[in-house]
Amino acid sequence: MSKLINVGVVGCGYWGPNLVRNFRSLPGCNLKMMCDVSAARLHSLKALYPGVMAERSFGHMLNGVGLDAVTVATSVKLHFPMAKAALLAGKHVLIEKPMAASAAQCEELIEIARQKGLVLMVGHTFLYSPAVRKIKEIIDRGDLGQIRYISARRLNLGLYQKDINVAWDLAPHDISIILHLVGQLPESVNCSGSAHITPQIEDVTLMTLIFGKDRSAIIHSSWLDPRKVREMTVVGSKRMLVYDDVAPLEKIRIFDACVKRPPHYDTFAEFQYAYHYGDISSPYLNQEEPLKAECLHFLECIRESKSPLSCGARGLEVVRILEASSASLKLGGGAVPLGRSQPTPSANNRPTRPSSRGSCRTKTAHALCA
Ligand SMILES: NC(=O)c1ccc[n+]([C@@H]2O[C@H](COP(=O)([O-])OP(=O)(O)OC[C@H]3O[C@@H](n4cnc5c(N)ncnc54)[C@H](O)[C@@H]3O)[C@@H](O)[C@H]2O)c1
Repeated sequence: MSKLINVGVVGCGYWGPNLVRNFRSLPGCNLKMMCDVSAARLHSLKALYPGVMAERSFGHMLNGVGLDAVTVATSVKLHFPMAKAALLAGKHVLIEKPMAASAAQCEELIEIARQKGLVLMVGHTFLYSPAVRKIKEIIDRGDLGQIRYISARRLNLGLYQKDINVAWDLAPHDISIILHLVGQLPESVNCSGSAHITPQIEDVTLMTLIFGKDRSAIIHSSWLDPRKVREMTVVGSKRMLVYDDVAPLEKIRIFDACVKRPPHYDTFAEFQYAYHYGDISSPYLNQEEPLKAECLHFLECIRESKSPLSCGARGLEVVRILEASSASLKLGGGAVPLGRSQPTPSANNRPTRPSSRGSCRTKTAHALCA
């Protein structure tokens, strides 16, 4: 029988209670403490979970309570100091997305986790959703052909954040999904946007990721839309796929559709694109809650000294793209290079295998991808 893992959640605002609910229900896990500076938040959570300790001081949470792991669900500017303090106190850490406020902060966290042999995981929740796992399977089987273009729309009214723009808030989900699906980092990032409500904080952004001359992705993020839209279209050389995360049924639809250029033509009159329209199919998806799968994966990685699918290195990649998007916004939408495009380890490897590349380094035989 394996040892119970004692978990604490810091930040019990909008998202933290979902982590509390999930960790509370998982076998092999003891949700020992909830921490928030707000007495009112703690009061309402304590009414739901009277057996879980409630604490207003994060310092007290780290000292003397006997936690094995800490989940950080506070605002982005607190991710780094809280995750750093937790790692230095010897706790495994799950940080909400985006991993930190800068790539330098992510690198520092990765290094501390590596030195201490601790699990460092980022809450890229959608990677654990049945729909994204199915899409990855479909792409890896070659059913869509070569991926040419992906477009993502994540729109709703609010929730306005005070310290980050909408790209840092909503696009981490789409960026993490896209990198996971294509297994490649973009060469450059463009981002344009506008701030309609709070000066200097863009509430609508349009980001373009250029993966090379044959592949690109666009990500439209908005806090200023009357409808909740969570949609991604993946265009392959053979087929196209539409993923609608808010659809109650048929979240994924695969269109047997493509366009081909004629290989040879002599006159303009002979030039004709060939449009192919075929069946539309929708694969079966199981009904697992993505956050529950994410929390289970975190516990499994701690128990088995495994590297998470959304390890620190994956969090760093997303933050580097967000930093490039901020730089591009300052340039009025100009391209910001990201360095050489290379395959991400999660593209073809099993998720738990540590990477041979920079950030997923090994420390011991029980090496953990930070
Ligand atoms: N994975 C997902 O799908 C998902 C969804 C929503 C939000 N998030 C992420 O979750 C994080 C939290 O977002 P939110 O919308 O819940 O924010 P929020 O502002 O609603 O909650 C943050 C909480 O942190 C508390 N807090 C602030 N300073 C603290 C301190 N020093 N010690 C203890 N508690 C402190 C606040 O009182 C507040 O209750 C963000 O990183 C966000 O990006 C993730």
